[in-house]
Amino acid sequence: MNNLRLHNKWVLVTGASSGLGQEMARQLATLHKANLVIAARRADKLEQLKAELEKTAGVKVKVVVADLSTIEGADHVVAECLANGELYGAILNAGVTYFGRHSQLPWDKFESILKTNVIGVVRMANALVSHFETSKQEGGLMLVSSMAGFFPVPYQTAYSATKAFINAFGNALYNELTNPNFSITVFAPGGIATEMTHGAEFGELQGWLMPVQQAAKEAIRAFVTRKFNYIPGLMNRLGKVFMKFLPAKFIGGRMSKVYLKSLLKSEQQ
Ligand SMILES: NC(=O)c1ccc[n+]([C@@H]2O[C@H](COP(=O)([O-])OP(=O)(O)OC[C@H]3O[C@@H](n4cnc5c(N)ncnc54)[C@H](OP(=O)(O)O)[C@@H]3O)[C@@H](O)[C@H]2O)c1
Repeated sequence: MNNLRLHNKWVLVTGASSGLGQEMARQLATLHKANLVIAARRADKLEQLKAELEKTAGVKVKVVVADLSTIEGADHVVAECLANGELYGAILNAGVTYFGRHSQLPWDKFESILKTNVIGVVRMANALVSHFETSKQEGGLMLVSSMAGFFPVPYQTAYSATKAFINAFGNALYNELTNPNFSITVFAPGGIATEMTHGAEFGELQGWLMPVQQAAKEAIRAFVTRKFNYIPGLMNRLGKVFMKFLPAKFIGGRMSKVYLKSLLKSEQQ
């Protein structure tokens, strides 16, 4: 299968109003000259990005404001992308977390994490895969997951579980594809410095976070080269290999200590 050729093609990026999504959109536009459909809830941030990229990269940018924790929002984004039949790629990146004791996660917040990170993603992936399978057009889909899906992270319990779903879902679905020109990539980063991790509860973990530009660069490379799944950062990749040889209970116990220390420190402030 050849690499994706993004020049002058339309690519969807969800969660483009901040963090990794915003930076991936920037790199897709400036380095690959892709036209973009950018989606999230904050219209002002999306409009700012559209103005920036149309001016600096000379590409076309379509803004779609939608709440991807709802079926209506997910369907609206896909409908806007497929309206002209020219969609070439999609990066389903929007996601939310909760850092704290699972016992203190309110039910409505848990539902919102599940709906954003799993239900909305599957709803859009179903429609997009169906489009590429039926049309046999060339293209690619990337699901932004997390290493937390490989190694369940205490104090991000619900979040980890949603990302484990995405890892399994994306990798399994890849092997059901019948269109030889279409691929699904699962991108699973470790910590990244974004809005998601700028809260006080992440204070002790700041030193582990990857700069968002680096994470985005590796994400776009994984997407373009149609990786099956990809973890950015050599240390993260080595960590995954190393941890294969350790008992899961031991890894979880170590993580629990580090994350709890950070949480307790933020609570004392
Ligand atoms: N930061 C990390 O350490 C890290 C590590 C591994 C994986 N990831 C994954 O990377 C992805 C991007 O996260 P990030 O770190 O860039 O976080 P971020 O800066 O908080 O960005 C999250 C994006 O998702 C959008 N979003 C959230 N809920 C939404 C909803 N209901 N409807 C539509 N859009 C929604 C947000 O836009 P609006 O608020 O404008 O809607 C925002 O654009 C997520 O899937 C996350 O799980 C992050």
